[in-house]
Amino acid sequence: MRSAHGLIGGDPVEPMRLFPLRYPWAYAHVQQAKRNTWFPEEAPLHDDVQDWHERLSEEEHRAVEILLGFFNPMESMVTSNLLLALYPYLTAPEIRLYLARQAWEEANHTMAFEYVIKTLPVDRERVFGMLENHPAVMAKAAFQRQLTEEILQTGTDLHTTEGLQRFLRNMVGFFVILEGIFFYSGFAFALSFRRRNLLRGLNTIIDWVLKDESLHLSFGVHLIRTFLEEYPEVRTPALAGELREMIQKAVALEADYNRALLPQPILGMSAELLNAYVRYVADRRLEELGLGAQFHASNPLRWLAIEIDLPEQVNFFEARNVSYEVGRPRE
Ligand SMILES: [Fe+2]
Ligand SMILES: [Fe+2]
Repeated sequence: MRSAHGLIGGDPVEPMRLFPLRYPWAYAHVQQAKRNTWFPEEAPLHDDVQDWHERLSEEEHRAVEILLGFFNPMESMVTSNLLLALYPYLTAPEIRLYLARQAWEEANHTMAFEYVIKTLPVDRERVFGMLENHPAVMAKAAFQRQLTEEILQTGTDLHTTEGLQRFLRNMVGFFVILEGIFFYSGFAFALSFRRRNLLRGLNTIIDWVLKDESLHLSFGVHLIRTFLEEYPEVRTPALAGELREMIQKAVALEADYNRALLPQPILGMSAELLNAYVRYVADRRLEELGLGAQFHASNPLRWLAIEIDLPEQVNFFEARNVSYEVGRPRE
């Protein structure tokens, strides 16, 4: 019998009673998310349109379209996963509060990419068509989709170890792999335009999305670690092997995608360099899951350290009951 006071197992339609908090780190993430609020139209794209016409090459146009062709549909796929696969089962109030907030952020990201796609003179049909006809985009989308469908089609019986493990694979697949590896690779490429003083409006949006995604990743890692503490029967060597394989597969999928994105180096970025960065990021994610590094790669993109690595270092482990006292919400 599951406890009604853990991450899962409560009445799914019971109105929320937030305090006393059981997971203060989750509430701290909600508060941080509120402080990160932004709206797409706050980033003007006029100069980006001019860059597109006057300064970007055909190869660069195509690469931006491939980037949008993956980012854009993933925003709605991650929303569906949050609401359909995770929210029904995770019943702890402060966890649900964060998932609801995250769902809004993902919807905001969808609107942000729509704003970019309708403002920049990209080939809209080509961008949207990639989900059906670009092999590397399709392979990554299929990887994510299968994880959601696994929960939706078979349901998940959280009274069994198998069901709990399926649920865990979903959380790792979305929070750690999609938000923590695939997106980071895309961010790194997008930010290389700004290094050449190009697409500054789009990069402002990328900064804001990155800030949100690094918080989603941080929340996800806390959630997964807490889940493993509450359900220690899930922590089998076989599962550890499966998670490691999932991450290795993701690194291979991203390598294919980056080779399609960058058949030739542009803006000082090559597929080889970007894939070395992906291996570095994957090692960090493996360590965050307590699985130990696989690739032992150093960060080949030192310039990204400030843009990407710093937001992750916000230490939500420090947010304990002391700062979010029982019954006394601070904000
Ligand atoms: Fe997002
Ligand atoms: Fe996200």
